[in-house]
Amino acid sequence: MHLIDKIDKNNIPNHVAIIMDGNGRWAKQKGLERSEGHRKGVDSVRSVVEAAVKANVKWLTIYAFSTENWLRPCEEVNAIMELMVLAVANETPELIKNGVRLKFIGDIDRLPAATRESVYNSTEKTKNGANLNLVVAISYSSRWELTKVVNTIVSDVKNTLLTEEEITEELIEKYIEKISVPEVDLLIRTGGDIRISNFLLWQAAYAELYFTNVFWPDFGEQQFFEAIIDYQQKERRFGKTSEQIELESI
Ligand code: FPP
Repeated sequence: MHLIDKIDKNNIPNHVAIIMDGNGRWAKQKGLERSEGHRKGVDSVRSVVEAAVKANVKWLTIYAFSTENWLRPCEEVNAIMELMVLAVANETPELIKNGVRLKFIGDIDRLPAATRESVYNSTEKTKNGANLNLVVAISYSSRWELTKVVNTIVSDVKNTLLTEEEITEELIEKYIEKISVPEVDLLIRTGGDIRISNFLLWQAAYAELYFTNVFWPDFGEQQFFEAIIDYQQKERRFGKTSEQIELESI
């Protein structure tokens, strides 16, 4: 029996988000340069995207580069940026074939020109993909994103497009979705650390969390399916009681 056959097709998480951690440690363990870990990490991205399409996941968001990652040594930042341009260019034809629509979230204006170009090109080329939304969070932090949303709302109030009374959770949700992603169902972090690191703080409010010691370059289809199977064992109550959830499912 293949692992995919153990997955309940009626309970697939709509949105899986992944903090891909452990590239550097994976490389160090093998006596390699950190950039080799990132290079191998791209292979894991490919495997997980294919697995997500197979499992019929509709949204997959990967944390490729955080606002805080700008603080890394210049050579590493440059190596990651170059790798991303290369990976996106190489993978785009296969993404189109698989019906994957690429989207980028984060402070795109801060990226080097070549990376920005590749972001715009691949977004345009894959815009008709209907199987999976693959979202790459790049130069991203959730606090940056929420600050941007607050600024937009304040400006819309000032310009009388919105009244103060109209500011509700639902409205904030709509503003976030305009520049970001929908609610997360399953949040995976590889590499052994148990933290969220400024990633999708609003959207992951009710996400199931899955932490694994596996380093990102060793994470692939099997590990992704294991995380989905683990998610399917959980009872998602959204603050309600088990009895209420049972009654609602009848
Ligand atoms: C975390 O490992 C990984 C990163 C900061 C970069 C991840 C980027 C990629 C895998 C490339 C993404 C490619 C595409 C196509 C979007 P780390 O360096 O923090 O590892 P460590 O914690 O072991 O040092």
